[in-house]
Amino acid sequence: MQKSTHLEIGLDTSIPDASPDLIELLGDTRGILSSLDVGSLLERLAEALESLIRIDGLSLKLVGVTEELLLVKRGEEFKREIIYGSRIMTPSGFAQSALINGTPLLIEDIAAESRFTFPTYVKREGFNALVAVPLVSGTRQIGLVTIYLRRSGKISSNVLAIISIVASVTAAAVENSQLLRQLEKNYFSTVEALAAAIEVKDPYTRGHSKRVTQFAIALAERFGVSGSEMRTLQYGAALHDIGKIGISGKILNKPGKLSDKEFEVIKEHPIIGERIISRVDFLESARSIVRNHHERFDGTGYPDGLRDEEIPFLARIVSVVDFFDALTSDRPYRKAYSFEQALLLIREGIGREFDPMIAKEFLAMSSMLDKQAEPLGPGMAISRL
Ligand SMILES: [Fe+2]
Repeated sequence: MQKSTHLEIGLDTSIPDASPDLIELLGDTRGILSSLDVGSLLERLAEALESLIRIDGLSLKLVGVTEELLLVKRGEEFKREIIYGSRIMTPSGFAQSALINGTPLLIEDIAAESRFTFPTYVKREGFNALVAVPLVSGTRQIGLVTIYLRRSGKISSNVLAIISIVASVTAAAVENSQLLRQLEKNYFSTVEALAAAIEVKDPYTRGHSKRVTQFAIALAERFGVSGSEMRTLQYGAALHDIGKIGISGKILNKPGKLSDKEFEVIKEHPIIGERIISRVDFLESARSIVRNHHERFDGTGYPDGLRDEEIPFLARIVSVVDFFDALTSDRPYRKAYSFEQALLLIREGIGREFDPMIAKEFLAMSSMLDKQAEPLGPGMAISRL
């Protein structure tokens, strides 16, 4: 016997017996709506739902995305799986029916249902019933959340009410996540535009900010840096020399040796850089990287003369990769050093210029770098990095 229907749910406002769990679920979701990781949010929702109504699976498909996120109850916990190539609008699929109707689809006996096709995992996991709820953002349908049950039997209106709550929370989380990603993309474009401005002023540094950023990320990953700290590093590394905008082009591009006075002017660029980005809220955490990327581990750097761990960790990372990239690039006053010469100088600078732990990790990583540079004779000044 076929049992499937489109229902208007959420009208039944009665609370199921396990009301503390429901309250906890709602409290939980409010706090994590700003998360970029919709998968983690769904995992927490699945666990909360499981304690309320014993669900066995939960899937999320987004319109226009071919991957589907599936959580399946195995033993005591939900295992996360990505189903690749899943198309939400398969003509005979149950998902399309739910989306076209714009209302939840309830199927209480999947084996007896002949109108729709189901993903292969439904049989594999022994799911017998499902509730598919369209995710709506404003007037736009953005995807579908499906709850799976291994047991068969009637699904009560209370259960449907809870699932509708989960769907609306998920829709909000997906939308937040998409907005945050867009915002982040805009931030990166802003940083890229600012970084490009440095290269107009100082053409010898073409590509320098980008390479420093790439090396810094690769090095930081080896220390387990991730998430917002990694974003800070990306911004700070890309903009570490932004203060050169405020330095005279005559000094920046001078082919010969700088006078002491000119060098004092160059040394102002970290402070100028920090001042420039201090007007931009989202760059707040990157300020210390810009200001302190010329500090030395032995305390003889500038502008603050910080030493050891007084120097912010991310600034210590940028310091090493900045030195490496600057050395292996041509400058108006010298040709590029070779890869090997630059690594040797980093080795020699351990404990003086550089944090030993970070410099050693960079040397270990250096086999991954394939940067080629022209060999250079000894005795070239390297003080103007
Ligand atoms: Fe610099």
